[in-house]
Amino acid sequence: MSFKIQPAPVARLNRSQLFGPGSRPEIFEKMAKSEADVINLDLEDSVAPADKEKARSNVIKAINNLEWKNKTVSVRINSLDTPFWYRDVIDLLENCSERLDNLTIPKVGCAADVYAVDALVSSVEQAMARSKNIGFEILIESAAGISNVNEIANSSSRIESMALGAADFAASMGMVTTGIGGTQDSYYMHRAGKKYWSNPWHWAQASLVAACRSHGVLPVDGPFGDFNDTEGFFAEAKRASTLGMVGKWVIHPNQVASANKVFTPSPDAIEEAKEIIEAMNKAAENGEGATVFKGRMVDIASIKQAHVLVKLANLIENDK
Ligand code: COA
Ligand code: MG
Repeated sequence: MSFKIQPAPVARLNRSQLFGPGSRPEIFEKMAKSEADVINLDLEDSVAPADKEKARSNVIKAINNLEWKNKTVSVRINSLDTPFWYRDVIDLLENCSERLDNLTIPKVGCAADVYAVDALVSSVEQAMARSKNIGFEILIESAAGISNVNEIANSSSRIESMALGAADFAASMGMVTTGIGGTQDSYYMHRAGKKYWSNPWHWAQASLVAACRSHGVLPVDGPFGDFNDTEGFFAEAKRASTLGMVGKWVIHPNQVASANKVFTPSPDAIEEAKEIIEAMNKAAENGEGATVFKGRMVDIASIKQAHVLVKLANLIENDK
C-alpha cells in the first residue's frame, strides 16, 4: 500500500439522484416528496435555450420555498462552452438560501474547467458572505473527460461526487448507439451458436470509480433512459454497485425505489459482513491473518470489504 491513505468521501447517501428539468416547476414538489437521496434541478440539457432564464428563477424559488427534508439539493448548471453558465452560478449563489448544497458541472473535460467554476463560486460566496461552501458534482461525459478523469477528481476540494453521463459520453466517443446506458444489441461475444451480451460502459465506469476512490470522491452511475424497463435498470444498477459505485441517477420517479433497493445492502449481506468481522477478530486472537468462513477463505482484506457494507448500513440507519 502506498504510504498515502486513501481519503474517505463525504459521509452522505447518494443511492438515487433524481433529475428534473428546471423548466417544469410543477414536478418540483413531487421531487421534494420523493424518496430520492439527491435532487438535481436541471438548467442544462433538459431545458431549451429559450427557457434558460425562466428555469433559473423557477429553480431559485423552489430551493428557497420547498421542504427538501434531509436531501442533498443540487443544480446542474450549463456547460462552460455556453453563454449561460456564468449567470447560472452568479444568480444561484446570489439568490439561493443555504439550502442549496451543490452545483453539478456538466461536460467537464479537464481540471482547469473545474478551477474556472471554483474561482467564480469562491468569489460570489465571499461577496455574499455565504456561510456554507457549495460542493461540486462533476459529470464525466466526453472523451476528454474520461482521458483526464484522475486529474479532474483531484481538481477541487469542493468535489463530492462524479458521475458518468452515458448519452453525451457515447456521442463524444463516436459510439454507435442511441441508447442511454444499458446493454447494446451489437455489443456481444459469440460462441457455439450463442450470443453473450457485454457492457460497453464497463471500462469507463471502472476508470471513474478508480479516480474517485483515489481522491475521496463518491462514484455515481448516470442515467438509464428506458424508464419502463425495470429489469434493465436493475441489471445496470447492480453492475454499477458491484464495480464500486454508490448510486445511480434516476430520470423518472418510477426508478427511485429500484435505485434505493440496489444500493442498500440487504439484511443478509450486512449480517454476513458482521460475521466476517467477528470471524476475523477471532482469527486475530489466535494469531492468524487468514481463516475459513462458511467454507471459503477470508483474510485481512475481507475485513475491509465487510467494513464497506457495515459503514453504508450505518449511514442508511442514521438517515431514517
Ligand atoms: N421528478 C418527479 N416527478 C416526475 C418526474 C421527475 N423527474 N418526471 C415525471 N414526474 C411525474 C409526472 O409529473 C407525473 O405526475 P402525476 O402522476 O402527478 O401526473 C408522474 O411523475 C408520471 O410521469 P409520466 O407521465 O410518466 O412522465 P412525463 O411524460 O411527465 O415525463 C420525462 C417523462 C422523461 C420527460 C420526465 O420524467 C423528465 O423530464 N425526466 C427528467 C429529465 C431530465 O432531467 N434529464 C436530464 C438528466 S439526464
Ligand atoms: Mg449530458
